[in-house]
Amino acid sequence: MADGVDALRPAPFPVVDPERIPTKRYYDEEFYRLENERMWPHVWQMACRLEQIPNVGDWIEYSNLGKSVIVVRTKDGVKAYHNACRHRGVQLAKGHGSCETQGFTCPFHGWRWNIEGKNTFVYGKHLFSEKQLEQADLDLPACRVELWGGCAFINHDDNAPALRDCIGPLADRLDQYQVDKLRAEWCYGAVLPANWKVAMEAFMEGYHVMRTHPQLHEAAGPLYQSMYQEPQGHAPPVNMRISSRDNILAQFKHMELLSEGMAGMAHAKDVETASTLLDVDLPEDQIQALMTWYGILNDQVTKQGRARGEPTPDLNALAVSHPIKAVEFIYPNYFLLPFLSSMSAYRIRPLGPESCLFEIWSLTLFPEGKEPPPVMDTVMLPYDSKEFPPIPQQDYSNIPEQQIGLHADGFEFMRLSKDIEGLISNYQRLIDGYLRGAPPEKLAKAQHKLGGNFDGPIHDLGL
Ligand code: FES
Ligand SMILES: [Fe+2]
Repeated sequence: MADGVDALRPAPFPVVDPERIPTKRYYDEEFYRLENERMWPHVWQMACRLEQIPNVGDWIEYSNLGKSVIVVRTKDGVKAYHNACRHRGVQLAKGHGSCETQGFTCPFHGWRWNIEGKNTFVYGKHLFSEKQLEQADLDLPACRVELWGGCAFINHDDNAPALRDCIGPLADRLDQYQVDKLRAEWCYGAVLPANWKVAMEAFMEGYHVMRTHPQLHEAAGPLYQSMYQEPQGHAPPVNMRISSRDNILAQFKHMELLSEGMAGMAHAKDVETASTLLDVDLPEDQIQALMTWYGILNDQVTKQGRARGEPTPDLNALAVSHPIKAVEFIYPNYFLLPFLSSMSAYRIRPLGPESCLFEIWSLTLFPEGKEPPPVMDTVMLPYDSKEFPPIPQQDYSNIPEQQIGLHADGFEFMRLSKDIEGLISNYQRLIDGYLRGAPPEKLAKAQHKLGGNFDGPIHDLGL
């Protein structure tokens, strides 16, 4: 499959065969440098959750690859500024805080700005030439910021297409699930000794569940076998060997393990709802029984959420009108993992060619006015900490080993399944589109093809 970007500027180690990803892309320093130069400054990066800056004057710093930005709530909405003093460049703000009246003060010589980015004070003004004090030059340069899904996203490129034009129809689908009303219950982070793409790709397919998460596979073997295992001649599918009731119990067990395994995602309140539905009348046919049970579960999660005052969407209606995948990827580095009323979210940032920062949020809906205090800081743990919930522990255990394995002599490329590891190929070829300088509108359109692509096939990106 040719994506037609060959006529553009060259880039090293391109994905020539969409089923094969050259291993040097995961550690070569020049490749890493080109990503930093040609991709990261042109993409929308999830910078913060909006509940972290609820009031006018609340601000939070976001930094990636040495570029720091202050995201601040003003009377006129959320703004972002490049985080450098206009005098001699000291960073104006670190971490987060609130500064409605006092604005930002440089810690070096005390120059000041209001939250609209306007310079309001220069100490010893008379000491400077007039040309050094042009008001427009002293104001903080704005960084693009747009809001979606309960988050502020920033982009260093003034000419990049708008955020929603990049995310595409996926944004409309997830909006139906009230993604902007979710609130974080916790956020954990870890530095992983792996390229940021290696870390991300562990969450782009469910094919690894059988070996990496054996407890999930054991609980719901037929589910995974139906997705990944070769059909066995004319033998009846394994899931026909157990009764409808046992199958529902297995589904429930799987849900419990997901909930414990992620300390969220399958939220405890939804598991509790499911636990009250294990005796409902079900048809004998196993497929019918499964559909009936999930219909009842969706209905009850919706009703009980609403009874608690939560803005729970109609899950049965959405399953038909706006189906989404177990993992939804928002290029280049943000994931949402929806499950019934709640979701987990991941953000992965590069720290070097073979190091990255991985953060996980647990998100759920609350009644209006009863939201918990915002989670302001990521709780950092060693990547092999036993304090991580069991499922991330299992995923994280492979990632550093994979990074080492990628260096092995004779291992030139990863070999992907064309049918269920397509997302890995697709987003990697989108990176190539950036590295080779494809037109921004085409890149945005290609990004649309990543929505709903979890466990999906290789696509022609039209680049
Ligand atoms: S560097 Fe900021 S006031 Fe001098
Ligand atoms: Fe996993």
